[in-house]
Amino acid sequence: MRGASAAGAAHSKDLGVEIQDLARESQVTNSEPLGGNNQIPNPKSQILALILFGPPGSGKGTQAKLLVKTLSIPQISTGDMLREHVRKGNAVGTKVEAKMKAGILVKDEVVNGLVAERLAQPDAARGFILDGYPRTRAQAETLCGMLNSRGAEAVVIHLVVDYNEVIARLTGRRQCPVCGTLYNLKFKPSKVPGVCDLEGAALIIREDDREEVIRERLDAYAKQTEPLIEFYRQNGTRLYDVDASSEPPEAVFGKILALIQ
Ligand code: AP5
Repeated sequence: MRGASAAGAAHSKDLGVEIQDLARESQVTNSEPLGGNNQIPNPKSQILALILFGPPGSGKGTQAKLLVKTLSIPQISTGDMLREHVRKGNAVGTKVEAKMKAGILVKDEVVNGLVAERLAQPDAARGFILDGYPRTRAQAETLCGMLNSRGAEAVVIHLVVDYNEVIARLTGRRQCPVCGTLYNLKFKPSKVPGVCDLEGAALIIREDDREEVIRERLDAYAKQTEPLIEFYRQNGTRLYDVDASSEPPEAVFGKILALIQ
């Protein structure tokens, strides 16, 4: 992956051209486009709305963080925004806390409102990475309206990971409360157990990463979110299926870059 200088260069260079340069470097060719048309539109004329789609633990947050550094467009994670409201204990936080703890989806109107507000920020003008949104048909329809009104092109990356792998990843996930870096007891341990390599802070376990809540979240995904794949297929959105089960995050990241060029 490229470092900070490349991220800086992306500001002064067209986003589409920059993605093409990066994808050439990654030299990855083994992912299959799913539905929609297979044409690669001219990214120069479009604002990129990259939708990271997949079950809990599929690596949406991990990939978003890698993509942010490279593309210099922001990650918009509805889960992170909601957790921030819960942490602050404000009106939104109070409304959603119990649902999140139980692994149930928060009401569409709350999430749609947060996303609309976030997309209006100046840093989202060139493009953005949606992580954990949309998750219901109503959210997907609202998002279509928001993207149409700003001339943004949606590209959906569907991270495919099998059930047992997801359980192993989520039960082993740890996160730095200061910088947000994600670790995993099995797949990406910190150098000193329980301590962030970058900040030295004690790593935390997310409240909804208990096994019974994980099963509830997976159930919500299967019933309410997975059907959106068919929604996107039918409306002609570029949608790619990426195997995110068997390779490390950097390899998955290379595949995504190659696909969005
Ligand atoms: P949210 O925060 O969005 O959680 P999620 O979708 O359940 O996804 P996760 O964050 O658990 O997983 P991830 O796919 O980002 O994986 P990660 O990169 O962390 O939502 C939480 C709750 O908020 C919901 O249950 C709901 O209540 C509410 N909510 C949020 N959005 C909503 C919406 N739109 N509508 C309604 N309600 C909403 O990786 C997981 C672990 O695996 C890490 O330890 C990582 O290091 C490891 N890992 C990642 N990639 C790999 C790899 N390739 N190989 C090995 N290990 C890997």
